[in-house]
Amino acid sequence: MCGIVGYVGEQQAAPILLEGLSKLEYRGYDSAGIAVYSDGALNVAKTRGRLQALADMTGGGAKIQGTMGIGHTRWATHGEPSDINSHPHVSSSGRFAVVHNGIIENYIPLKKKLMEKGFEFVSETDTEVVAHLFEYYYDGDMVDALIKVIQRVDGSYALGILSADDPDRFVAVRKSSPMIIGLGEHENFIASDVTAILKHTRNIYYLEDDEIVVLSKDDVKIYNIDKEEVQKKVFTVNWDISAAEKGGYEHFMMKEIEEQPKALRDTINPRIQDGKIVLDSVSLTEEDIRSLNRIHIVACGSAYHVGVVGKYIIEKLTRIPVEVEVASEFRYHDPIIDEHDLTIIISQSGETADTFAALKEAKSKNSRILSIVNVVGSTIANASDDILYTWAGPEIAVATTKAYSTQLSMIYMIALYMADKISMVSKAEYAQIVHEILAIPEKVEEILKHKEQIQFLASQFYNSKSIFFIGRNLDYAVSLEGSLKLKEISYIHSEAYAAGELKHGTISLIEEGTLVIALATGSELFDKTISNVKEVKARGAVVLGVTTEDREHVEDVCDYVIRIPKTHEILLPSLSVVPLQLFGYYVASLKGCDIDKPRNLAKSVTVE
Ligand code: F6R
Repeated sequence: MCGIVGYVGEQQAAPILLEGLSKLEYRGYDSAGIAVYSDGALNVAKTRGRLQALADMTGGGAKIQGTMGIGHTRWATHGEPSDINSHPHVSSSGRFAVVHNGIIENYIPLKKKLMEKGFEFVSETDTEVVAHLFEYYYDGDMVDALIKVIQRVDGSYALGILSADDPDRFVAVRKSSPMIIGLGEHENFIASDVTAILKHTRNIYYLEDDEIVVLSKDDVKIYNIDKEEVQKKVFTVNWDISAAEKGGYEHFMMKEIEEQPKALRDTINPRIQDGKIVLDSVSLTEEDIRSLNRIHIVACGSAYHVGVVGKYIIEKLTRIPVEVEVASEFRYHDPIIDEHDLTIIISQSGETADTFAALKEAKSKNSRILSIVNVVGSTIANASDDILYTWAGPEIAVATTKAYSTQLSMIYMIALYMADKISMVSKAEYAQIVHEILAIPEKVEEILKHKEQIQFLASQFYNSKSIFFIGRNLDYAVSLEGSLKLKEISYIHSEAYAAGELKHGTISLIEEGTLVIALATGSELFDKTISNVKEVKARGAVVLGVTTEDREHVEDVCDYVIRIPKTHEILLPSLSVVPLQLFGYYVASLKGCDIDKPRNLAKSVTVE
């Protein structure tokens, strides 16, 4: 989604903006632009295409002089990707420039009114109304104008606004779209996320909705909508800069796949003390858990797939009913939910618009909210009753890997923690699962040691037109993720099916040579899945089985077999997903796809 960077300080702004925007490229974009204040005017450069085109146009920023500016990478929503539709957008007089992430939902009536008042629109975007509206309301004070603007616009926004009348300061505001404030020495920043400014500062302010920020070189002031000053706590970000760099890898995705053991250790180890799961940030008591009617897990994409695993595990261990739903559906069907329900929200970015809207829906019905989030201080984290952070570090590749794995590990720990609180798990089983959770990172390392085997398999199938993933129960939940990983980065059509469901229609798509990846890791349903493998083989499928190291005779029914280490049954998804991530990666790599930035996709989906 769109990325924003803003700078005011003593250095030349344009190169800093370009560099910051380059760190936001991973979010997905189709055009880029900057506006810099110079000598009572605004110098704007913007273009469709890659950031390199903007860098070429501005001589790496050297052609645009000035020490204060705003920059933007656009992911088109309203109007095609074009030079004109790129941000910054300027007001009719050219005195104000605006960058925006989000959607102004009522831009059509506002545009009509502004046109009646003589404002001329040049783009097809919703953002341009903000530039004209700001000019319309501006009476010498940027904060007053911005308050009036946000009182008129509906929707979501992170806005940075620069004025040719103000040589020292610019303003920003956010609502339901990410934006943080970076605090430096004689320089200050705005950014869509910390990776854009990590090189300059680790001291951050997180903003609440509709808090207005005035940034100058030596000062940052924050106001509420009544123009009262708000005091903020400074957060220090401990992410390692190198975590957001490729560090010799061809793609962030492979780097992040390989970082999984570390991310898992960082997430798991602090939460297990003397064989006990300690979730300090969770305030659920035994009584709270006993009184729960139901748990809802709500998320999007891969985070939703973690929820599907979560349903099986939480129900198995606690016997509390769990419903799992994609956020974009949940909020629109008037979900049956009340104060006796717990809602678990899962989100890497903590900014996904649909997931946040679902959180608000659950909250409005008095459900308690427990979130699993990777980005500290993100919108979802701020709005939750209890937060469990995954310590995966920055995830740059659009296709999630280490965030998914750490979310899974959190789900295991929550499930076991709750089961223990309400005495649903024996001491022996508790100890065994804890022991196995601690061993996951090492077992993932073991799988990664044999990645060449997966590379070879990918080389056999990268020309496939369509690939199916099948499995039962937890194996089905992992199939969903394996299929998504493959299709989103390699553009090969793929579907995941509950193995027993295939014969109710979809099996008609299986023909001579169709690849079916069959997950058969769970022991309880192993024989049933093998029967389903035989059904597809009888119709010409080539089958790649994924099973545990101790299973015998799988080679007799499958054409190829990938083996993973043994672990406790409920933890198998943490291991079986790794070869599927690698398979998707290698297939996409052999096809020459843009792995870290697949077409049409954005990292943090901040529009509905
Ligand atoms: C797929 C992927 C997406 C995200 C989804 C939710 O590889 O990364 O499906 O899982 O967009 O994003 P978050 O977790 O940031 O809410």
